[in-house]
Parts: sequence; C-alpha cells; structure tokens
Amino acid sequence: MKHPIALILSSLAFVAGAAVSAAAPVAENWENHCAKCHGADGKGQTKAGKKLQVKDYTDAKVQAEMKDADIIKFTTDGAFDKAGKEKMKAYKDELSADEIKAFVAYIRKFKA
Ligand code: HEC
Repeated sequence: MKHPIALILSSLAFVAGAAVSAAAPVAENWENHCAKCHGADGKGQTKAGKKLQVKDYTDAKVQAEMKDADIIKFTTDGAFDKAGKEKMKAYKDELSADEIKAFVAYIRKFKA
C-alpha cells in the first residue's frame, strides 16, 4: 500500500492539475458559452440570437459604442432589460476573471 503522505501529495497534485486545465482557451469558451446566441461569427444571427435581438459585433458602430469595461461587466454580471428581467445570464460562477477578460480581444476581432 502507498504511504499515506504519498497519497495526500498525489491527490493534491491532481487537484492543482484540474484547476489549471479548467481555464479553457477563449475560442473554446466562446463556442461553448456564447455562440448559441451571439453566433460563431459574432453576428448574432442564430435562432436564439434573433429572438433576443443581440447586437451584431461585426458592426463598427456597435463596437464603438461598447467599451472594454462593458464587455467584462456584462459577461461577469449578466445583461438585464429595463424591467430587470434577465436577457443574458452572469458567467462569474462558470468562468474565471481572466477567461472573461479574454473575451474583450476576442469580441473586438469580429469587427469587419
Ligand atoms: C442566451 C443567449 C446569450 C448567451 C448564451 C450569451 N449572451 Fe451575451 N447577450 C445576450 C443578450 C440578449 C444581450 C443583451 C443585448 C442587448 O440588450 O442589446 C447580451 C449582451 C452581451 C454583451 C453586452 C453588449 C451588448 O451586446 O449589448 C456582451 C459583451 C455579451 N453579451 C457577451 C457575451 C459573452 C462573452 C457570452 C459567453 C460567455 C455571452 N454573451 C453569452 C444573449 C446571450
């Protein structure tokens, strides 16, 4: 049988490894969490995107109106309509602050 200390150390290494691999590349996160509504191309021309009337991120005007801080804020805390109804959920429980920050550059690249 393995020494108990060795067992504890190997399980700690497993936990640390899992934490590191949990940070997925931004393209993967966009595909898994955002593309359903905002589209793989950022245009929002998906079934859900059209229904929710998401903005076209290839539009220079939309890009100009949206600040980097807005991208982080909306993705972290979610988007709500004037009545306070949720239009897009908050991602702070699923994605790390760094993963959310990575969307800024990613969304900027959609600009035509
Ligand atoms: C269920 C559909 C849905 C998903 C999934 C979704 N969004 Fe949104 N998102 C919306 C809607 C709806 C709005 C609000 C649009 C508006 O009011 O103009 C919005 C707004 C935003 C905004 C604020 C700027 C704007 O367009 O008004 C950003 C930035 C954003 N989403 C990024 C993301 C990112 C990044 C993800 C993935 C982590 C994501 N969204 C996932 C539907 C979604």
